[in-house]
Amino acid sequence: MKVALLYNDPDLKADLEPGITDRYIHNHIIAIEESLKEKNHEIIKLDVKNDVQRLICDIQTDKPDVVVNLCESVFGRAEFEMNVVALLELLKVPYTGASPIALGICLNKYNHRLFLKDMKIKCPGAVTVKGVQDFKSLGKLKFPVIVKPLYEDGSAGISERNIFSSPQEAMENFERLLGVFSEGLLAEEYIDGREFNCFLVKTKNGVKSFPVSEIKFSFPDKRKYKIISYEAKWNPESIEYKSTMPVCPAELSKSLLKKIQDVCVKIFNVMVKKGYARVDLRMDERNNLYIIDVNPNPDISPDAGAVRQMKAGGWTHTDFVEQILEEGIEYMKNPIFKQVSADSVHTSESGKDLKVTAAV
Ligand SMILES: Nc1ncnc2c1ncn2[C@@H]1O[C@H](COP(=O)(O)OP(=O)(O)O)[C@@H](O)[C@H]1O
Ligand SMILES: [Mg+2]
Repeated sequence: MKVALLYNDPDLKADLEPGITDRYIHNHIIAIEESLKEKNHEIIKLDVKNDVQRLICDIQTDKPDVVVNLCESVFGRAEFEMNVVALLELLKVPYTGASPIALGICLNKYNHRLFLKDMKIKCPGAVTVKGVQDFKSLGKLKFPVIVKPLYEDGSAGISERNIFSSPQEAMENFERLLGVFSEGLLAEEYIDGREFNCFLVKTKNGVKSFPVSEIKFSFPDKRKYKIISYEAKWNPESIEYKSTMPVCPAELSKSLLKKIQDVCVKIFNVMVKKGYARVDLRMDERNNLYIIDVNPNPDISPDAGAVRQMKAGGWTHTDFVEQILEEGIEYMKNPIFKQVSADSVHTSESGKDLKVTAAV
């Protein structure tokens, strides 16, 4: 098959330091290329480079059978991650990973709790803070509270310094935090306890949940709050990184493991539906589970937790890549896409005059 690797080099994880950015992009692409080569797929690379017109032309010229979507932002904005996928749908090009709707739902760290509430699944109490007018809502929360940027991922903006034991302390720090993350913050009740990740992949036999992984917190100092901060996630030299090693499979009773996997499959079926995802959870001392984060299209680079989990479940990286290609192609067979005619998108020879007409 002709497989296109779609990414946006200048913007992918633009918030990270350059060294980290390069490694992140590079590792993803190399690993996927190796898996594609193993199955003798023809590989083409589509680097968006913030040029949407050119992307459309390249897709129409190269005509890939399926696109492996690794694009996380366009024009430096994570909001446009879903637009790229929406464009692929309108061009009727099969693609791997999450749909535009799932990416949109999970973009804002507050949104997923609306779905979870409806499903009667627990997540920590939280309020959004966009300015002084929201401070009074902090009174609804049980402290300590962790304050996170509303629209980031990869632990960007997450630090122990953003965990506050009282509303007073939180309010004193909001000005500083809103100065950096002006689009808004999420103040969320801090859940002390174990942290788990559950990786899920859509297959033709339903959603497959892989062995659950646990973050083993082993800080040498006796710190009050144990989290995966930005340092812990991205800086292998740091104490934080070395003290937050994942263990997979996690040590869990059969019933707890089933409880975690069942809840995560339920979440996938309602909120994600397509591709693959990772759900992050915490469990308090009474074994209550709380959903912290739902991540469609999580990190699938070789040292990512998702890859560790798929291997613990008996899959190779190549098995995974083949599965997501197949699922992407299957998804495009949905009758809804029949209405999108391949002739509905016209470009002039220069590709500059784009006209999209609905063919219904
Ligand atoms: N409510 C919470 N209670 C305890 N720890 C939390 C909470 N929210 C986040 N954390 C810690 O911060 C990390 C990153 O938070 P998360 O919401 O997953 O952000 P991101 O989308 O950047 O990964 C989590 O893996 C966890 O260690
Ligand atoms: Mg997370």
